[in-house]
Amino acid sequence: MTSPRRLKIGLIGLGRLGSIRARIIAHHQPRMEFVAACDTKPGADQWAAANLPSSVKFFADPVDMMANGGIEAVLISTATATHAPLILQALDLGLHVMCEKPISVDVLTTEEVLAKAASKPSQVFLVPFTKRYDESYVATKKMLLDGTLGDVHAIETHNSDQQEPNGFFVAFSAQSGGIFVDVGIHDIDIARYFLEPEKSGKKQVNRVFAVGQQAVYGALAKTGDADNGWGLVEFANGKVLQMHVGRTLTNGYESATRVYGTKALSAINGNSTINRVEIRDAHGVRTQTTPDAFTLYDATFYKDLGEFAGAVLDGTPLTCTLNDAYEAAKIVVALQHSFRTGLPVYFDDDGRPIMEGVTSVSKTNGANGHANGTTNGHTNSVAE
Ligand SMILES: NC(=O)c1ccc[n+]([C@@H]2O[C@H](COP(=O)([O-])OP(=O)(O)OC[C@H]3O[C@@H](n4cnc5c(N)ncnc54)[C@H](O)[C@@H]3O)[C@@H](O)[C@H]2O)c1
Repeated sequence: MTSPRRLKIGLIGLGRLGSIRARIIAHHQPRMEFVAACDTKPGADQWAAANLPSSVKFFADPVDMMANGGIEAVLISTATATHAPLILQALDLGLHVMCEKPISVDVLTTEEVLAKAASKPSQVFLVPFTKRYDESYVATKKMLLDGTLGDVHAIETHNSDQQEPNGFFVAFSAQSGGIFVDVGIHDIDIARYFLEPEKSGKKQVNRVFAVGQQAVYGALAKTGDADNGWGLVEFANGKVLQMHVGRTLTNGYESATRVYGTKALSAINGNSTINRVEIRDAHGVRTQTTPDAFTLYDATFYKDLGEFAGAVLDGTPLTCTLNDAYEAAKIVVALQHSFRTGLPVYFDDDGRPIMEGVTSVSKTNGANGHANGTTNGHTNSVAE
């Protein structure tokens, strides 16, 4: 039974992603009523006045909006390092929460947030992974489920942004947790979607190994980050992910996935073309590349916002579980650690990455103010 009511939502963060979310909520997603918006940066009030419907109330303080904005749900689209404190406050205020990935840049903070969410079972909490709402990935999952692919045993992903001449990625790195955490979490999630490691129990991963380089943005070395990274993940069920994440393409954004089954191979988005046009000229045969990932969000954001509203209003299920966010977080933290130390990271029988030898954790790479440290001798943060 579909409720005729619309979900009263407030949006925190009106940046690159938040502005797209705002447009979709305001003009396209019929199951939501856009009640309030917030951003702390100077001039955000003017942006909101010029771009949002006049019925949306602007707040400069997120807690004020969550407490007094007349909303029942909040969408958090701020910098990653601010997610956890905002989620905790939202849950304490009784709100349903949708938050961009990842929950945090470290495992301990992620666990703190998940524990709070578990204590509020009547509140919906969604961390959407965009590719699960992309029709090509959904079609491949259907082929897996109906047996067309046979036994899916390996995944290869290539996920690269276009070079950004102003060095946006360098400033962004300090807040994002690093390329494996920020970009690679999509590759990890999609590998988990197809390789189904949760079926082998608590320990989902045997080991990971990562290498990386600063091919264009040398300053990334200062934050222990890379502009190209390669990761290898061996899951506990013996299945394998090989991934490449990058920020240095010159043609546009590319995100391709090859799903290897014993009966068939699904190659998703092998050519990240913007449309079906081929240009035939003195250069040969060319297509135009999708310029950036943001171009793809109109379709996927419409779906994940609708799913979130449906979960609150009708009690319908979510595609992405909090456990998906947790498992992916552990793996990307391990990959970033492996890149920084040059060593493989093994996982213990409880499914936690074993990252010995690191005893203190600074907050310079975007840890969000929580006292990160070690648990059972294992350091869990990427912000070393
Ligand atoms: N495909 C995806 O799922 C995907 C893609 C890109 C980014 N993201 C995630 O979305 C989030 C936002 O990314 P972005 O590129 O839009 O960042 P951004 O820096 O462009 O925008 C963030 C906005 O949040 C505001 N902000 C920061 N802290 C705030 C606070 N405490 N209260 C209110 N406003 C605050 C900033 O002023 C800024 O306008 C990140 O966590 C990122 O990882 C997800």
